[in-house]
Amino acid sequence: MSDLPPLLSTLHGTTASPPPIWLMRQAGRHLPEYRRVREQAGGFLDLVLTPKLAAEVTLQPVRRYRLDGAILFSDILMVPWALGQGLDFRQGEGPRLGALPAHLVEKTFDLTKLSPISQTLSSVRQSLAGTAVTILGFVGAPWTVATYMIEGGKPTFCKSLAFLQDTAKAFVLFRTLIQATIAYAKMQIAAGAQVIKIFDSWAGKLPPSALRRWSFDPMVDIAAALSPTPVIYFPRGVGAALSDLYQQVRARTQGPFALALGEEQDLQRIREKLDPSVCLQGNLAPTALLGPIREQERQVARLLSLVRGTPHIFNLGHGVDKHTDPARVQALVDQVRAG
Ligand code: CP3
Repeated sequence: MSDLPPLLSTLHGTTASPPPIWLMRQAGRHLPEYRRVREQAGGFLDLVLTPKLAAEVTLQPVRRYRLDGAILFSDILMVPWALGQGLDFRQGEGPRLGALPAHLVEKTFDLTKLSPISQTLSSVRQSLAGTAVTILGFVGAPWTVATYMIEGGKPTFCKSLAFLQDTAKAFVLFRTLIQATIAYAKMQIAAGAQVIKIFDSWAGKLPPSALRRWSFDPMVDIAAALSPTPVIYFPRGVGAALSDLYQQVRARTQGPFALALGEEQDLQRIREKLDPSVCLQGNLAPTALLGPIREQERQVARLLSLVRGTPHIFNLGHGVDKHTDPARVQALVDQVRAG
């Protein structure tokens, strides 16, 4: 595996020292160069659908911080948009979606609407040819995407949890999302994505008894269809149920994978419970970059010592906050590189 770039070889179970590093939301409003391109693009959707600009913001954090991974600049809500649901990102308000289409079936999914994203990835692949930077594509897990589709914006979960009570109706939506998401992820892989990350950012809002049906099974259905492409699962907020996901992944998929931890997870406890060859990702709190620098350094040092000797991808437990000073991200990367 030594001929693979560090992030990929770690996903295959190799231990690297120092560990590879990339950051969720590494491109975005904390970077002045992003804000400039965002202004030039007009709206957020225009930015995502203009390959030249989307490739540029994908590469900005990689250039600035020399990270091991370049994550595609896009959004998990592009799938509902390609399914025909209205989508609008207003400055400072987050996403707004139109009414949930009444007859969502796979046939309504128009993958060609997402072809600019293919072009973004091809362009990123060209720019990174010959480097050791790994290209990450991503999708939203059906549950997290469904919460936005059902609630029309930032979810409060009452409506989306109620929606699941009509199991037959919910299965229709989830089946559609699973099929559309597989097609979209395969498109990303064909265009250059070497890893797919599945974001189930709201998994922790499901009751434990519903986790397998509405979070874990759909994520594993998607991952199984993408084999042998490595998959990073991010079931945020599920606590000890993470080991149930691990069992499902082991039982139903063949390819390399990592489990990404939110900062609420106890990395040490999880490491002890799972097979030592399992790759983990995470899980520095994004707020560590907002407080005193000494405290950031202490937390990074602690995490580095915890993950030493194990296959681990260094990351935050959630996205870089928009108020983060780029100098603090640089300090984090430098400290990780120094081991
Ligand atoms: O990580 C990266 O750098 C890649 C790009 C990326 C974005 N969104 C860009 C974005 C990724 C991987 C996502 C995933 C995403 N989008 C998730 C799952 C991850 C998570 O954060 O839990 C979710 C839930 C969404 C939906 C979404 N998109 C929300 C809730 C918002 C508003 C949040 C905010 O900070 O305003 C977005 C918009 C969005 N997606 C922005 C970015 C950089 C901000 C857009 C802007 O510039 O105004």
